[in-house]
Amino acid sequence: MPEKLRVAVLGATGLVGQRFVARLSRHPWFDLEALYSSPEKAGLRYGEAVQWVIDEHPEDYVWGERLRPLKPEEVAREGFDIVFSALPSNVASDVEVELARLGVKVVSNASPLRMEPDIPLLNPEVNADHARLVELQSKRGWRGWIAKVPNCTTAILTLALKPLHDEYRVKRVTVATMQAVTGAGLRGVPSTVIIDNLVPFIPGEEEKMETESRKILGTLRGTRVEPAGFKVTAITTRVPVLDGHTEAVFVELEEPPATADEAARVLEEFKGNRIKSLGLPSAPEKPVIVRKEVDRPQPRLDRLAGNGMTVAVGRLRLDPVTGGVKMVILGHNTIRGAAGNGVLIAELLHKLGYS
Ligand SMILES: NC(=O)c1ccc[n+]([C@@H]2O[C@H](COP(=O)([O-])OP(=O)(O)OC[C@H]3O[C@@H](n4cnc5c(N)ncnc54)[C@H](OP(=O)(O)O)[C@@H]3O)[C@@H](O)[C@H]2O)c1
Repeated sequence: MPEKLRVAVLGATGLVGQRFVARLSRHPWFDLEALYSSPEKAGLRYGEAVQWVIDEHPEDYVWGERLRPLKPEEVAREGFDIVFSALPSNVASDVEVELARLGVKVVSNASPLRMEPDIPLLNPEVNADHARLVELQSKRGWRGWIAKVPNCTTAILTLALKPLHDEYRVKRVTVATMQAVTGAGLRGVPSTVIIDNLVPFIPGEEEKMETESRKILGTLRGTRVEPAGFKVTAITTRVPVLDGHTEAVFVELEEPPATADEAARVLEEFKGNRIKSLGLPSAPEKPVIVRKEVDRPQPRLDRLAGNGMTVAVGRLRLDPVTGGVKMVILGHNTIRGAAGNGVLIAELLHKLGYS
C-alpha cells in the first residue's frame, strides 16, 4: 500500500475542526498527525480541551493528542503534505498566507482570498478544472499554495445549479436561505437569540452567495476564471436548526425543461460531474438527489445523505413566473459546506499531483 500523506488541522477544536478530525482520523489516504489550537488551549490534550458536539466520532487516538500552538514557522518545519485550516477569518488571513509563503499546502475554509483570481474556489464535482490555479501562486513568491472551500450556503447551491446550468443555461437565481446555528461556529448564536426565533441577517452571507457562485460556475480560460454570466440575488436567515442549510431557490433558465421530471433526471444524472471517474474516497455516489415526497427535504431527515456530501432537492416544479424551475435544496453545512468538501478538495489536489 502506498504511504499515507501526513496532514494536520488548524482550529481543530472548533465545529469545522471537529468534522475534519472525525473524517481525517480514519481516512484511507491521509494520516492525521497534528492538531493546532488557539494559544489558550495549546499544550492540553485534545480530549480535555475540546467540547465535542458533533454526531460523528473520531478514532480514539486523537483524544490523547497534545494541542500545538499555531506558529507558522513550526508548522512549515514539520513538512506536512497538506494542512487543513478551520480558523476564524481574522486569524486565517495572515496565517494562511504566511504558511503558503513558507511552502505549506493549505486547504482552507476561511473566507479571505476566496475571490482572488489565482486562488481556486473549489466544489470538485462542479469545477475541479479550476484546481490548476494553484500553479499561478508561485508568482506571489509562495512555495506552497492555498485552495479555498466555498462559503457553506454557496457550496450547496452551486452543486444543485451546475447540472441545470449545463443543460438549460441559468439566466438568474433568486434564493432565500434558512441556515443552521452551527453555521456560526461553536459559540456563534446565543440560545436566547435563536430559540423560538428567526434572525433575517447573517453578516456578509448574501454577498458571498452572490459573488462566489459566479466564480465557482465560471469558465477557466487560460489562467483566469471568467465568472458565469448570470446574476444571483439572495436573502439569508438563521433558524433554530442544528445542522443543515435549507434554500428556497427560483432559477430562471434560457431554455427551460419541458417537465419537472425531466429537470429531476438532469439533476440526478449530473452528466457534467467532473470527478466521477477519479475514485476520490469522499465523493458521494450521487452529488444531488431529488426527493419526490411533498414535504422533503428536511434537515433532520436529509442532511446526512451521501455521508453529508449529497445535496437533496425537493419541491421541484416548473415555474411559469420566472420561466424556469423552483425548488428547495438542503445540504449539510459543516460537511458539504465545510470540512467534508475540504477533504474532497485535498483528495482531488492529491490525485492531480499537487500535494
Ligand atoms: N460552521 C460552518 O458551518 C462553516 C461553514 C463554512 C465555513 N466556515 C468557516 O470555517 C472557519 C471555522 O469555523 P467554525 O464554525 O469551526 O468556528 P469555531 O467553532 O469558532 O472554531 C474556530 C477554531 O479556531 C481556533 N482559533 C481561534 N482563535 C485562534 C487563534 N488566534 N489561533 C489559533 N486558533 C484559533 C479555535 O480554537 P479554540 O477552541 O482554542 O478557541 C477553534 O478551534 C471559519 O473561518 C468559518 O467562517 C464555517
